[in-house]
Amino acid sequence: MHRIVLILLAALGLALPRTSAQVKADLRGIPATVYQNGQKIRIFSPDVSETVRIFVISDTHIFRSDEREDPFREYSDRMAKAYNSTKHFLTGEKTNPEESLMKTLELAKEHKADVIALTGDMVSYPSEAGVEWVKNALDACGIPWFYTTGNHDWHYEGMEGTEQQLRETWTQKRLLPLYQGHDHKLYSAEVKGVKLIFLDNGIYEILPEQLDAFKKEVKGTQPKLLFSHIPFYAPGYSTSTVAHPKWGLAVDKNYKIERRLPWPEEGFGKTTVDFWKAILKASRKNGLLATFSGHLHTQQSSVIGPWVQFTVPANAVGGYFEVTVEPL
Ligand SMILES: [Fe+2]
Ligand SMILES: [Fe+2]
Repeated sequence: MHRIVLILLAALGLALPRTSAQVKADLRGIPATVYQNGQKIRIFSPDVSETVRIFVISDTHIFRSDEREDPFREYSDRMAKAYNSTKHFLTGEKTNPEESLMKTLELAKEHKADVIALTGDMVSYPSEAGVEWVKNALDACGIPWFYTTGNHDWHYEGMEGTEQQLRETWTQKRLLPLYQGHDHKLYSAEVKGVKLIFLDNGIYEILPEQLDAFKKEVKGTQPKLLFSHIPFYAPGYSTSTVAHPKWGLAVDKNYKIERRLPWPEEGFGKTTVDFWKAILKASRKNGLLATFSGHLHTQQSSVIGPWVQFTVPANAVGGYFEVTVEPL
């Protein structure tokens, strides 16, 4: 009798729930699944209890300045002209960084985003007017936002000093309003049970205190995402990535034009490589669902076993990601 009913249901196309239940059963024990369609990314995890919607924005490259910038023009002149007029990466229509950011924030509001994650190069150089404009735009949109720096936010071309010194100096002098009291090196924020970790890797190298802080933040199995400006090495990715085995002087094409110290001939220090390993470990054991970055300005992704990495297209040309983390 039962079999006849099932055959009848199948004939009517009503036996689908049984098949779907089997497929769902096959997903049991899988830590997370990832879906992508253009700018939309959906991450599903059994450890997530409610959907979190995150807009990821990177590389807007705001170039605004006022008279306060006059003493610094010799250091910011080139980047002040780099992204003044841009073409939308999908439509080819003329746009510009300020218009792109405003449109993306409007969309985030319309889609009721829970949070905005900013992964650096929001400004092309640390002008007070640029930083103020970005902060005002973000505050006005009414959505909580978190930021970490890129390699341009703090960079004045041609200033003397190591990358680490210059980052520290100009982060402290100009970028603190964007950090909203958080430690620029590494900090975390929690949104509906998902931990968002923000790492400043804009000098390509990771400092020992950043590795220590990351190891503390990833303990346990709470669902987590990591945001940084520069992507991490994955086979296929450019050498402009953190912990890339070929990174160093031989592949540094831009140090003359950016008027900075070249990348060291010997490549990365051990801490940077250890950080890369720590991400892979956290992806395997500690609920790290994905990592997000910008810097390369084009949409890219990689999968290294359990580690899924996304690189967001530049917001200067209209790019962003709309990411949802959902219960599986
Ligand atoms: Fe950039
Ligand atoms: Fe960058």
